[in-house]
Amino acid sequence: MALLLFVPFLLLRAPLAGASVPVELTVVVDSKGGGNFTSVQQAIDFIPADNQRWTKIHITAGVYTEKVTLPWSKGKVLIEGEGPQETTIQWGAYADGAMLQDAAGMFWSSNTSDTATFTSEPDDLVFKGITFKVHF
Ligand SMILES: *[C@@H]1O[C@H](CO)[C@@H](O)[C@H](O)[C@H]1NC(C)=O
Ligand SMILES: *[C@@H]1O[C@H](CO)[C@@H](O)[C@H](O)[C@H]1NC(C)=O
Repeated sequence: MALLLFVPFLLLRAPLAGASVPVELTVVVDSKGGGNFTSVQQAIDFIPADNQRWTKIHITAGVYTEKVTLPWSKGKVLIEGEGPQETTIQWGAYADGAMLQDAAGMFWSSNTSDTATFTSEPDDLVFKGITFKVHF
C-alpha cells in the first residue's frame, strides 16, 4: 500500500535526476579514514538543521553497512558515490525502509514515514553514482 501511494511522488520528482545543483560545500566520507568522516551518517549529522547551502557528501568506493537517516530538516544534500558498482550503502533488518530506484535512477525510501521526509522539500535531495542495498 505504501508503495502505491508513493508512485506519484516518484514521477513528480524524476526530472531532478538530470539536474546539477550548485554545491557550496563538499565533505568526503571514506571508510578507510582518508576523508572528513568514516560513515555516511556522520557526514549527515555534520550538516546543520535547516541547511541552506547545497552540500555534497562524496562517498569513496566501498561498502558502507549502516542505516542512513536523513532528517527532513537537512535539505540541499547531494549524496554522491564513485559509481553504482563502486559505492554501496547497505543495511539489513529494515525491510520496510528499503530503498527503491525509480526510472530516472534516483533512490527513494519505501517507508511511508520516510517518504514524507523526502517529499516535503521537493528539490533538495540528489543521489548519484551509488547503490543502496537491503541485505537480510
Ligand atoms: C575535509 O577535509 C579536507 C581535507 O583535509 C579539509 O580541507 C576540509 O576543510 C574538511 N572539511 C570539513 C567540513 O571538515
Ligand atoms: C517505517 O515507518 C513506520 C511508521 O510508519 C516506523 O514505525 C518504522 O520504524 C519505519 N521503519 C524504518 C526502517 O524507518
